[in-house]
Amino acid sequence: MRPILYLATQNKHKVEEISALLKDHFTVRDLSTLAITEEIPETGATLEENSLQKARYIAEKFHVSCLADDSGLEVEALAGAPGVYSARYAGEPKNDQANLELLVKNLVGIAHRRARFVTVLTYFHAGVYHSFEGEIQGEIVEAPRGNQGFGYDPIFQPENEDRTFAEMTLAEKNQIAHRARALEKFKKFLDEN
Ligand code: IMP
Repeated sequence: MRPILYLATQNKHKVEEISALLKDHFTVRDLSTLAITEEIPETGATLEENSLQKARYIAEKFHVSCLADDSGLEVEALAGAPGVYSARYAGEPKNDQANLELLVKNLVGIAHRRARFVTVLTYFHAGVYHSFEGEIQGEIVEAPRGNQGFGYDPIFQPENEDRTFAEMTLAEKNQIAHRARALEKFKKFLDEN
């Protein structure tokens, strides 16, 4: 039987993406089977800190093996913004549609549209934490396209692609995306250890 791994996220899209990629290694569980109603704290100044904070919160509260993800979209013309503040770019309460619209607005008239998505995963197991990073380069398109995925997917077009993430299936996104790349490193670590 495969070991159980809890995903320290309340984002059902992340659960879907990560579960699809880890199903051969783990029985993946989301947080619905744990007694958690509050939002997992996320107060760090970097993706690494937030990822570790989320993993530690679930691991210490429930004494389980878990994997946390913190991701951000860094836009070159905006000096790396929204970055670690991607979830709350348009303010509280966090709202994916408002974030996306604000980013499109802030790039109106700007020709340089390069951006990258970054994910930091933190795995907690047997008292030890391990981190894995993945990234994908691309650009921010001028108007949203597609209705798959979540968050900034409709305005992010990976390099060497003519579709945004939101115009791809989950399987297509999972072949190239930041989270999938971090998960590849995690799986390599598992295979080697
Ligand atoms: P967090 O990692 O849950 O804090 O997410 C940061 C922000 O980036 C949220 O607004 C997410 O919706 C967004 N985000 C994270 N991963 C992705 C992705 O794969 N595609 C699009 N948006 C994402």
